[in-house]
Amino acid sequence: MNHPLRELLYAIENHPGRVKRTSEVMPLAPDVPTMSPYRTRWLLNQLVKDLGADEAYLEIGTWQGATLISALWDNPLARGYACDNFSQFNQIPGTGLWEGVRPAFLKNMARYQETGRLGAFSFFDEDCFALAARAKVPVKAKDGRPFGWPIGVFFYDGDHSRIATARAFVDFQPFLAREVIVIVDDWNYPSVRAGAWAGIEGVNPLGVWFRVLPAVRFRDADGNGPKGGPIYGQDALDAEPNLVGSGGRDGGWRNGLGCFHLTLRKG
Ligand SMILES: C[S@@+](CC[C@H](N)C(=O)[O-])C[C@H]1O[C@@H](n2cnc3c(N)ncnc32)[C@H](O)[C@@H]1O
Repeated sequence: MNHPLRELLYAIENHPGRVKRTSEVMPLAPDVPTMSPYRTRWLLNQLVKDLGADEAYLEIGTWQGATLISALWDNPLARGYACDNFSQFNQIPGTGLWEGVRPAFLKNMARYQETGRLGAFSFFDEDCFALAARAKVPVKAKDGRPFGWPIGVFFYDGDHSRIATARAFVDFQPFLAREVIVIVDDWNYPSVRAGAWAGIEGVNPLGVWFRVLPAVRFRDADGNGPKGGPIYGQDALDAEPNLVGSGGRDGGWRNGLGCFHLTLRKG
């Protein structure tokens, strides 16, 4: 099974220390508020590293940019597409301030771009399904299309309703590479699981390979979380007192990830 996702997940399952060692030497957007633990961001970074030369990364649901920055960090040849309409979670928790996530996202991306260590990306500030509909309209120039390159890695972390999750597969299917990795965040939400499987049924792929990277379990009242509240960077993640696991940092994949390797019907 010579496939980057399968090899990575095999390594994670069988050599979990690799995640920790890597996390200690590679700070990924440590100062950007995020809902994704370090591990998830590390996984995205590794998957983008393994993208084919003619493929791109797509992220729906960037929020303040931590996952997008992590995916593209030190991947200078990578191309990314990203979309958010800033319709959710637009209060910066913990600060008591009401500030737009959009300006925070733009500021974070500009700051990290200045380092010269980010791969290139196009950002679409719109509803992702409107984007998909718009991208289907043929235009002559390759550069005139939102998705000029087939998507080899798709991270879906947008609206977690069943219908939106299903549409993420179906609506974006025309832009995905024949062999595509799809990572769906918040796998422990029943709506996400139901939506993903409905979407896969809609896409009707030739092949489906699937694994779950499990959710963080919290030591709160019911003992099996998730418990709300974003994680503020690596330091805060380390300090998160409610994470069960080896000292917090390796406590899990927060709300869980559904990981797919799909072989799609093309042409
Ligand atoms: C869970 S947050 C993303 C978190 C981010 N990936 C991280 O881990 O830090 C979900 C994001 O999806 C965006 N979103 C929700 N519905 C959307 C839609 N229809 N089109 C584009 N973005 C959407 C929200 O505005 C929000 O910023």
